[in-house]
Amino acid sequence: MIHNGIIENYSQLKKELTNLGYVFESDTDTEVLLNFIEEIKKNNNCGLEEAVRIALKRVTGAYVILLLDEENPDTIIAARKGSPLVIGVGKGEHFLGSDASPMLEYTKEVVYVNDYELAIIRPDELILKNLGNEKLTPYVQKLDLELAAIEKGGFDHFMLKEIFEQPQTIYDCLRGRLDAVAGTITMSGIQQYADQIVNANRIVMVACGTSWHAGLVAEYIFEELCRINVEVEYASEFRYRNPVIHKGDVIIAISQSGETADTLVAIENAKQKGAIILGVVNVVGSSIARTSHGGAYTHAGPEIGVASTKAFTAQLAVLTMIALKLGYLRGTISEERYRNLLTELEQIPEKVAWTLQQSEHIKALAEKYKDARDFLYLGRGYNFPVALEGALKLKEISYIHAEGYPAAEMKHGPIALVDDQLPVVFVATRDAYHEKVVSNMQEIKARKGIVISVITEGDSHSTDISDDVMIVPEADEILAPMLSVVPLQLLAYYIGVAKNLDVDKPRNLAKSVTVE
Ligand code: G6P
Repeated sequence: MIHNGIIENYSQLKKELTNLGYVFESDTDTEVLLNFIEEIKKNNNCGLEEAVRIALKRVTGAYVILLLDEENPDTIIAARKGSPLVIGVGKGEHFLGSDASPMLEYTKEVVYVNDYELAIIRPDELILKNLGNEKLTPYVQKLDLELAAIEKGGFDHFMLKEIFEQPQTIYDCLRGRLDAVAGTITMSGIQQYADQIVNANRIVMVACGTSWHAGLVAEYIFEELCRINVEVEYASEFRYRNPVIHKGDVIIAISQSGETADTLVAIENAKQKGAIILGVVNVVGSSIARTSHGGAYTHAGPEIGVASTKAFTAQLAVLTMIALKLGYLRGTISEERYRNLLTELEQIPEKVAWTLQQSEHIKALAEKYKDARDFLYLGRGYNFPVALEGALKLKEISYIHAEGYPAAEMKHGPIALVDDQLPVVFVATRDAYHEKVVSNMQEIKARKGIVISVITEGDSHSTDISDDVMIVPEADEILAPMLSVVPLQLLAYYIGVAKNLDVDKPRNLAKSVTVE
């Protein structure tokens, strides 16, 4: 048996089996489940398929299991609950995995298995059933992906390739949706819920990790453009704390993989309470996409580096379009601002391309600072979540301790850390808070800290105060995070490489966290 996930009631099952004389060689829930199935098979004198069906009715938790029986070595029995399971359909062969993209090399036809379904797979046969032993018709989907999308394409790492893809991925995300000349945004997956969204009392964004940071940026944007109350929740907290949800509340689930267990369960719970769920998801056909009522795909293509980069900027692009559309419909944004933002949004891909030209300079900075023990990342307003994201990228890739903070909060604690060894990264593009951020930089310099700033082109004042700068082009403050995050992605990447670490697969991390 191959098992991904957690069997929550395994200790109870283990007790029952131990009483029956079973002896366990490991502490794993996997061994318990396997023996439990074996016991049912013996007790009921039935085949493996029947035993699995009976067993799963008693099992709680999130899992995918694949079973091979030595009596029938050409038959795999597979089942899922909560964790993803994709079956690739080939010619006289099948492939099983948690994600469709690795199957591309072999087939473009896949079947997504749903919770409480059982698949019986032979080389040339795929039978799908529910736990009540009724046959279901497998829905075979065609993958709209090319093999090149999951290869490195001349880059040293997937992460670098994905950082450099951002001009294209943001463009792909806007394409067909944004028309700056006509002044329109077309998002068909949102359109049908437009009335409910316009009239909602609040919007709750639910996500984890980098996607949660995208939600935080979106909170600022939605509140500014739509004058609507927005809350951003860690999915893992939201799902367990009996949140107050009213019928008609709008929940936006943000997820690259569309399979993050906490986010998935959080929206399932909210759905049951009558909320409208919109998914901002990258992976087409994923569980979160399928569970959501509507939403918009981010179209960033497969993201393979564990640290999320291009998915983040694509999430920002989608969320900004939703905010612009909603602000327009609610009448909370002037025609002029709306039009200007559409035009500026359209220019973001080329501004990201401009920013990427500094990669050699940022590589040199990485060499200079790679031995620092800690980093502090500071920003205000729209750039505060970018500071969080910059710190997260550095932690993930270089294992250097890094903290992100709202710049003004530093005096309530983090400033005590400042000495001549501490690099402080300011996300300080020109915006309404700029003068205040510059004062914060001066406070760090006064304490002999090292200031590295992400600034807007032409900002000579910040350049003078900073030890080093990374430059992005001028942009409306609402759109600036899509630019200011890019140098921070590069800095984390090059520090990780300079430290000789496996940047695409950092230790202890998973690309998609399909268990709690
Ligand atoms: C993992 C990944 C992160 C990602 C987070 C949320 O921790 O390593 O890069 O941001 O999960 O994943 P999601 O797929 O829901 O965006």
